[in-house]
Order: sequence, then C-alpha cells, then structure tokens
Amino acid sequence: MSGPDAVLVTGGAGFVGATLVRRLVASGHRVRVLDNLSTGAAAHLAGVDAELVEGDIRDAGTLDKALAGMGAVIHLAAAGSVVGSVQDPAGNFDVNVLGTFQVLDAARRAGIERVVQASTGGALIGDATPPVSERSLPKPISPYGASKLAGEGYAHAFAKTYGIRTVAIRFGNVYGPWCERKRGVLNVFFEAVHSGAPLVIYGDGTASRDYVHVDDISNALQLALEKDVPGGTVLHAASGVETTVKELADLCCQAAGAPGHPIEYRPKRAGEVGRNFASYDLAKEVLGYAPSVSREVGIPRTWKWFQDEVFRD
Ligand SMILES: NC(=O)c1ccc[n+]([C@@H]2O[C@H](COP(=O)([O-])OP(=O)(O)OC[C@H]3O[C@@H](n4cnc5c(N)ncnc54)[C@H](O)[C@@H]3O)[C@@H](O)[C@H]2O)c1
Repeated sequence: MSGPDAVLVTGGAGFVGATLVRRLVASGHRVRVLDNLSTGAAAHLAGVDAELVEGDIRDAGTLDKALAGMGAVIHLAAAGSVVGSVQDPAGNFDVNVLGTFQVLDAARRAGIERVVQASTGGALIGDATPPVSERSLPKPISPYGASKLAGEGYAHAFAKTYGIRTVAIRFGNVYGPWCERKRGVLNVFFEAVHSGAPLVIYGDGTASRDYVHVDDISNALQLALEKDVPGGTVLHAASGVETTVKELADLCCQAAGAPGHPIEYRPKRAGEVGRNFASYDLAKEVLGYAPSVSREVGIPRTWKWFQDEVFRD
C-alpha cells in the first residue's frame, strides 16, 4: 500500500506511538516508524506489522528516505519533558523546533498531503483560567511549551504557504500502557506504591491536570489523519475533566489496593502550570472526537498493565 494510506509515524516507538501504531495497522494503514530510540524502544512495537527505521528527525536525508512511498505523516517525535526542557532548553529546542521544521520541510519536498502533529494543551497555554481551548491565548511558561507553540506556528505557515493539510492536536496529560519509560506523575506514583515509598507531591496537591487515556489520544490522531479538516487546524484532545494531583494520588492508591499509602509534600517545581484542564468542543465538532475511557476505568486498567508488564519480576 502507498499513497494516503501509507503513514510515517515519527516517534512511533514511544509511549503514544505504541498504541497509535497498533491502531493504525489494525485499521489497514501501512505504517513506517522513524525513531531514534532515545526514549522509545523497539520492544514497544514487538509483534506489530510496522516497519521500524532507526534514525533522527533532525537529519534531512534520513527524513527523505523515510518518506519515500508515504502519503501522510503523524509527527510524535519530541523531547517531551517539561522538567527536561527547563534543565536543557537548547536540547529541547533542537529536537522540538528544529526537528519539527525538518519534518515539515521534508513533507513539503516529498509532496506529502497530510501532516498531523502532537502538541500540548497545558504547557503551551500556561497559567490560564481553565478550561483552556483553541481560543485561549498561548503564553508558555516552560521551554517545552514554547517549542510546541513554535512547531504549531511552522505547521500553520506550511499549510498556508505550501498547501500541506496540517492538523495539530493538543493533548492533555496522557496515560495508559507503554508509559513505563516516562517520568509522568502516574507511573511515578505507581512505582512508589509498588516499592512502598511515599508518593511525592510537588506543591500543595491542588495543582490539576486533564488526564486523557492513550486510546482516546490515538483515536483523535487517527481521526485527524483521515477526516477532511482545513490545513492549519489546531484542536484539543482531552478528557474535559479536572483532576488534582491529590485526587490522582488517591485514585492510584485505590487502583493498587493501597488506600492510605503515605504522601510526602515538596516545594513546587519551576515551569509547571497550576490548574489545567481542557475543552474538546472543537475536536468534537470537527472530528467527532469524544473521550471514551474515564479515569475511574483507565487508571485501574493501567495499574493492571504495570503489574503484568513492569512489576512482574
Ligand atoms: N505523554 C503526554 O502526556 C503528552 C502530552 C502532550 C503532548 N505530548 C506529545 O506527544 C508526543 C509523543 O509523546 P510520548 O509521551 O509518546 O513521548 P515518548 O518520549 O514516549 O515518545 C517520543 C518518541 O520520539 C522519539 N524521538 C525523540 N527524539 C527523536 C529524534 N530526534 N528523532 C527521532 N525520534 C525521536 C523517542 O525515542 C520516542 O520513541 C510528543 O510530541 C509529546 O510532546 C505528550
């Protein structure tokens, strides 16, 4: 299969990629993954009928080869850590801004019609009164958020200048299977409960996020790939539910059968947003997107995955 049904997924060996690639393959797409395996793993795609090309999105020649015969791109590859971007803003810029530019420019050279890119809600918009939406004014408060905004800017420009049908999907905080290499709060909490260490909360526990299951994010990405949407579109894919860090800690402990597990509070970290959750109204209107996995179902299901795949030894 070539043409629009053949999809290059950058960063497809990562956490979101592991679910997305399975979903695309199951839907009949031919999938090639370009990944430098810096935070991803070939094992994430074990047994999946997708081609894995090991290489870096910052290398134009690698991208040209990876795009041969492809009709569309889903661009997930990124340096995805807010804390990491505060520690190494130049490294974050290099992968997220320069890398995204290289992906778009290679898509232009290859005559690719559709590019869907992973963006972020909370980190890009900053401290705004939630729910945030496409109408919220972006004011990033971390280098990571700024890098994603720059990537959206280039995608919009390439849509208007070169006619590439770009769609940026701003994710909430994604959780679910294959997140074991991430330093996201949910797996940090799970590891703490498993090892018997206290759960560590930075700040007073009232900071909130929009936790969205990776199945819902993968659905949004596939809809953005397949539906007819104008180029330059930006959409939030979220749960629409505000969950405080303290509520999340309680949900994790309950899922693990350890209610009352100790919690330790430490000072708030730089670059992190206070309250955040998002409205997905436009994604619903434009893509027919709606979240299907509630936190009450998704968190216990993810704990079960950790028990089966990560904590089994
Ligand atoms: N996980 C979340 O909660 C979340 C929230 C908002 C946005 N996002 C975005 O979603 C996308 C996927 O995130 P994820 O959580 O799956 O992260 P991840 O780190 O698991 O996946 C990223 C993948 O990109 C690869 N990669 C990194 N740099 C690369 C490079 N220079 N060249 C080629 N491959 C490279 C990594 O090896 C990894 O497999 C990212 O763009 C991230 O910014 C994630």
